[in-house]
Amino acid sequence: MNFNNQTKVKDIALSNTSARQVLEEARVDYCCGGGESLQEACVHAGVSAEEILARLRENSQQVSAAESNWTSAPLGELTEHIKNQHHRYVREAIPRIKTLLEKVQAKHGENHPELAEIKISFHQVGKEMIMHMQKEEQILFPYIEALDRAANEKGGIEPPFFQSVRNPIHAMMKEHDAAGALVKQIHNSSAEYAEPADACTSYKALLQELREFELDLHQHVHLENNILFPRAVELEAAVL
Ligand SMILES: [Fe+2]
Ligand SMILES: [Fe+2]
Repeated sequence: MNFNNQTKVKDIALSNTSARQVLEEARVDYCCGGGESLQEACVHAGVSAEEILARLRENSQQVSAAESNWTSAPLGELTEHIKNQHHRYVREAIPRIKTLLEKVQAKHGENHPELAEIKISFHQVGKEMIMHMQKEEQILFPYIEALDRAANEKGGIEPPFFQSVRNPIHAMMKEHDAAGALVKQIHNSSAEYAEPADACTSYKALLQELREFELDLHQHVHLENNILFPRAVELEAAVL
Protein backbone atom coordinates (compact mmCIF):
# COMPACT_ATOMS: atom_id res chain seq x y z
CA MET A 1 0.00 0.00 0.00
CA ASN A 2 1.24 3.48 -0.84
CA PHE A 3 0.83 5.90 2.02
CA ASN A 4 0.83 9.67 1.95
CA ASN A 5 0.02 12.23 4.61
CA GLN A 6 -3.70 12.10 3.77
CA THR A 7 -3.92 8.32 4.33
CA LYS A 8 -6.08 7.46 7.34
CA VAL A 9 -4.01 6.27 10.28
CA LYS A 10 -6.16 3.18 10.75
CA ASP A 11 -5.48 2.10 7.15
CA ILE A 12 -1.76 2.39 7.82
CA ALA A 13 -2.13 0.39 11.06
CA LEU A 14 -4.15 -2.24 9.20
CA SER A 15 -1.57 -2.72 6.50
CA ASN A 16 0.93 -4.67 8.60
CA THR A 17 2.51 -5.15 12.01
CA SER A 18 5.66 -3.21 11.34
CA ALA A 19 3.66 -0.17 10.21
CA ARG A 20 1.79 -0.34 13.48
CA GLN A 21 5.07 -0.50 15.36
CA VAL A 22 6.24 2.67 13.62
CA LEU A 23 3.04 4.43 14.75
CA GLU A 24 3.31 2.98 18.25
CA GLU A 25 6.92 4.12 18.68
CA ALA A 26 6.08 7.63 17.49
CA ARG A 27 2.97 7.64 19.76
CA VAL A 28 0.67 8.35 16.83
CA ASP A 29 -2.83 7.29 17.92
CA TYR A 30 -4.04 4.61 15.51
CA CYS A 31 -6.88 3.06 17.52
CA CYS A 32 -9.24 5.65 19.00
CA GLY A 33 -7.98 8.38 16.66
CA GLY A 34 -7.68 5.98 13.71
CA GLY A 35 -10.07 7.95 11.52
CA GLU A 36 -7.67 10.90 11.26
CA SER A 37 -5.29 11.45 8.36
CA LEU A 38 -1.61 10.78 9.03
CA GLN A 39 -1.01 14.53 8.83
CA GLU A 40 -3.62 15.33 11.52
CA ALA A 41 -2.58 12.47 13.78
CA CYS A 42 1.09 13.52 13.55
CA VAL A 43 0.19 17.08 14.53
CA HIS A 44 -1.58 15.68 17.61
CA ALA A 45 1.37 13.45 18.45
CA GLY A 46 3.86 16.29 17.89
CA VAL A 47 5.89 14.39 15.29
CA SER A 48 6.75 15.03 11.66
CA ALA A 49 4.50 13.24 9.15
CA GLU A 50 7.38 13.21 6.64
CA GLU A 51 9.60 11.37 9.09
CA ILE A 52 6.88 8.81 9.82
CA LEU A 53 6.33 8.29 6.08
CA ALA A 54 10.04 7.67 5.61
CA ARG A 55 10.05 5.09 8.40
CA LEU A 56 6.93 3.44 6.97
CA ARG A 57 8.62 3.12 3.59
CA GLU A 58 11.64 1.50 5.22
CA ASN A 59 9.38 -0.97 6.98
CA SER A 60 7.10 -1.70 4.08
CA GLN A 61 8.92 -4.90 3.16
CA GLN A 62 8.18 -6.67 6.41
CA VAL A 63 4.51 -7.48 5.96
CA SER A 64 3.09 -9.91 8.44
CA ALA A 65 0.73 -12.25 6.64
CA ALA A 66 -0.72 -13.53 9.92
CA GLU A 67 -1.88 -10.07 10.93
CA SER A 68 -3.53 -9.05 7.70
CA ASN A 69 -5.56 -12.26 7.78
CA TRP A 70 -7.95 -10.68 10.26
CA THR A 71 -9.37 -8.53 7.52
CA SER A 72 -10.68 -11.69 5.82
CA ALA A 73 -10.78 -14.48 8.46
CA PRO A 74 -14.26 -15.53 9.68
CA LEU A 75 -15.47 -13.09 12.34
CA GLY A 76 -16.05 -15.93 14.82
CA GLU A 77 -12.32 -16.66 14.66
CA LEU A 78 -11.51 -13.03 15.30
CA THR A 79 -13.77 -12.81 18.39
CA GLU A 80 -12.14 -16.02 19.70
CA HIS A 81 -8.71 -14.54 19.11
CA ILE A 82 -9.62 -11.32 20.94
CA LYS A 83 -11.03 -13.29 23.89
CA ASN A 84 -8.11 -15.71 24.09
CA GLN A 85 -5.35 -13.19 23.55
CA HIS A 86 -6.46 -9.83 24.81
CA HIS A 87 -9.33 -10.43 27.24
CA ARG A 88 -7.38 -13.16 28.94
CA TYR A 89 -4.26 -10.98 29.12
CA VAL A 90 -6.21 -8.08 30.68
CA ARG A 91 -7.80 -10.35 33.29
CA GLU A 92 -4.43 -11.81 34.24
CA ALA A 93 -2.48 -8.55 34.16
CA ILE A 94 -4.83 -6.52 36.39
CA PRO A 95 -4.26 -8.42 39.68
CA ARG A 96 -0.55 -8.75 38.88
CA ILE A 97 -0.15 -5.01 38.34
CA LYS A 98 -2.28 -4.14 41.39
CA THR A 99 -0.03 -6.28 43.61
CA LEU A 100 3.10 -4.62 42.20
CA LEU A 101 1.55 -1.17 42.65
CA GLU A 102 0.85 -1.87 46.34
CA LYS A 103 4.36 -3.13 46.92
CA VAL A 104 6.12 -0.34 45.04
CA GLN A 105 3.96 2.39 46.53
CA ALA A 106 4.62 1.14 50.08
CA LYS A 107 8.35 1.38 49.46
CA HIS A 108 8.68 4.37 47.11
CA GLY A 109 5.41 6.29 47.55
CA GLU A 110 7.00 9.01 49.62
CA ASN A 111 9.68 9.89 47.04
CA HIS A 112 7.40 9.20 44.09
CA PRO A 113 3.99 10.80 44.66
CA GLU A 114 3.10 10.04 41.01
CA LEU A 115 2.58 6.40 42.11
CA ALA A 116 -0.62 7.48 43.88
CA GLU A 117 -1.97 8.99 40.65
CA ILE A 118 -0.96 5.92 38.67
CA LYS A 119 -2.74 3.71 41.18
CA ILE A 120 -5.99 5.68 40.91
CA SER A 121 -5.91 5.61 37.09
CA PHE A 122 -5.00 1.93 36.96
CA HIS A 123 -7.74 0.85 39.38
CA GLN A 124 -10.21 2.83 37.31
CA VAL A 125 -9.13 1.41 33.94
CA GLY A 126 -9.03 -2.09 35.44
CA LYS A 127 -12.59 -1.81 36.76
CA GLU A 128 -13.87 -0.35 33.49
CA MET A 129 -12.13 -2.94 31.31
CA ILE A 130 -13.55 -5.87 33.30
CA MET A 131 -17.10 -4.56 32.83
CA HIS A 132 -16.41 -3.66 29.21
CA MET A 133 -15.12 -7.13 28.29
CA GLN A 134 -18.09 -8.72 30.04
CA LYS A 135 -20.47 -6.71 27.85
CA GLU A 136 -18.53 -7.71 24.74
CA GLU A 137 -18.51 -11.37 25.71
CA GLN A 138 -22.14 -11.53 26.80
CA ILE A 139 -23.89 -9.27 24.29
CA LEU A 140 -21.88 -8.05 21.32
CA PHE A 141 -19.57 -10.96 20.46
CA PRO A 142 -22.29 -13.68 20.65
CA TYR A 143 -24.38 -11.62 18.23
CA ILE A 144 -21.44 -11.18 15.83
CA GLU A 145 -20.76 -14.93 16.08
CA ALA A 146 -24.44 -15.62 15.29
CA LEU A 147 -24.21 -13.33 12.26
CA ASP A 148 -21.12 -15.22 11.14
CA ARG A 149 -22.93 -18.59 11.48
CA ALA A 150 -26.02 -17.25 9.70
CA ALA A 151 -23.84 -16.03 6.82
CA ASN A 152 -22.15 -19.43 6.52
CA GLU A 153 -25.33 -21.43 6.71
CA LYS A 154 -27.17 -18.94 4.50
CA GLY A 155 -29.78 -18.83 7.26
CA GLY A 156 -31.64 -15.95 8.84
CA ILE A 157 -31.26 -14.37 12.24
CA GLU A 158 -33.70 -12.75 14.66
CA PRO A 159 -33.22 -8.97 14.95
CA PRO A 160 -31.42 -8.31 18.26
CA PHE A 161 -33.00 -6.46 21.22
CA PHE A 162 -30.49 -3.63 20.60
CA GLN A 163 -31.88 -3.28 17.05
CA SER A 164 -28.59 -2.92 15.21
CA VAL A 165 -25.02 -3.93 15.90
CA ARG A 166 -24.16 -0.25 15.49
CA ASN A 167 -25.65 0.51 18.91
CA PRO A 168 -23.47 -1.71 21.12
CA ILE A 169 -20.50 -0.89 18.85
CA HIS A 170 -21.04 2.81 19.48
CA ALA A 171 -21.12 2.18 23.24
CA MET A 172 -18.01 -0.02 23.13
CA MET A 173 -16.07 2.58 21.13
CA LYS A 174 -16.89 5.25 23.72
CA GLU A 175 -15.58 2.93 26.41
CA HIS A 176 -12.41 2.34 24.38
CA ASP A 177 -11.85 6.10 24.33
CA ALA A 178 -12.26 6.26 28.11
CA ALA A 179 -9.84 3.37 28.70
CA GLY A 180 -7.38 4.90 26.23
CA ALA A 181 -7.49 8.22 28.11
CA LEU A 182 -6.79 6.54 31.47
CA VAL A 183 -3.85 4.59 30.08
CA LYS A 184 -2.52 7.80 28.56
CA GLN A 185 -2.68 9.40 32.00
CA ILE A 186 -0.60 6.54 33.39
CA HIS A 187 1.84 6.94 30.50
CA ASN A 188 2.20 10.64 31.29
CA SER A 189 2.28 10.31 35.11
CA SER A 190 5.11 7.79 34.81
CA ALA A 191 7.02 10.09 32.42
CA GLU A 192 6.64 7.49 29.66
CA TYR A 193 7.58 4.64 32.01
CA ALA A 194 11.02 6.09 32.68
CA GLU A 195 12.88 4.20 35.41
CA PRO A 196 13.83 6.53 38.28
CA ALA A 197 17.42 6.25 39.51
CA ASP A 198 16.24 4.71 42.79
CA ALA A 199 13.95 2.11 41.16
CA CYS A 200 14.23 -1.41 42.62
CA THR A 201 13.45 -4.55 40.61
CA SER A 202 9.74 -4.44 41.54
CA TYR A 203 9.53 -0.81 40.44
CA LYS A 204 11.14 -1.69 37.09
CA ALA A 205 8.81 -4.67 36.72
CA LEU A 206 5.82 -2.44 37.45
CA LEU A 207 6.83 0.04 34.76
CA GLN A 208 7.39 -2.75 32.28
CA GLU A 209 3.98 -4.26 33.06
CA LEU A 210 2.28 -0.88 32.69
CA ARG A 211 3.99 -0.34 29.35
CA GLU A 212 2.85 -3.76 28.17
CA PHE A 213 -0.69 -3.06 29.37
CA GLU A 214 -0.82 0.07 27.23
CA LEU A 215 0.61 -1.69 24.19
CA ASP A 216 -1.85 -4.57 24.54
CA LEU A 217 -4.76 -2.15 24.90
CA HIS A 218 -3.76 -0.39 21.69
CA GLN A 219 -3.59 -3.67 19.78
CA HIS A 220 -6.85 -4.88 21.32
CA VAL A 221 -8.76 -1.68 20.50
CA HIS A 222 -7.23 -1.64 17.01
CA LEU A 223 -8.58 -5.14 16.28
CA GLU A 224 -12.05 -4.16 17.50
CA ASN A 225 -12.43 -0.56 16.27
CA ASN A 226 -10.69 -0.96 12.93
CA ILE A 227 -11.40 -4.56 11.94
CA LEU A 228 -14.07 -6.39 13.94
CA PHE A 229 -16.62 -3.59 14.26
CA PRO A 230 -16.67 -2.34 10.64
CA ARG A 231 -16.77 -5.94 9.40
CA ALA A 232 -19.68 -6.72 11.77
CA VAL A 233 -21.65 -3.73 10.45
CA GLU A 234 -21.12 -4.96 6.89
CA LEU A 235 -22.03 -8.55 7.78
CA GLU A 236 -25.20 -7.47 9.55
CA ALA A 237 -26.30 -5.52 6.50
CA ALA A 238 -25.77 -8.63 4.37
CA VAL A 239 -27.51 -11.07 6.75
CA LEU A 240 -30.43 -9.18 8.32
FE1 LIG B 1 -12.35 -6.46 23.80
FE1 LIG C 1 -13.49 -3.51 23.47
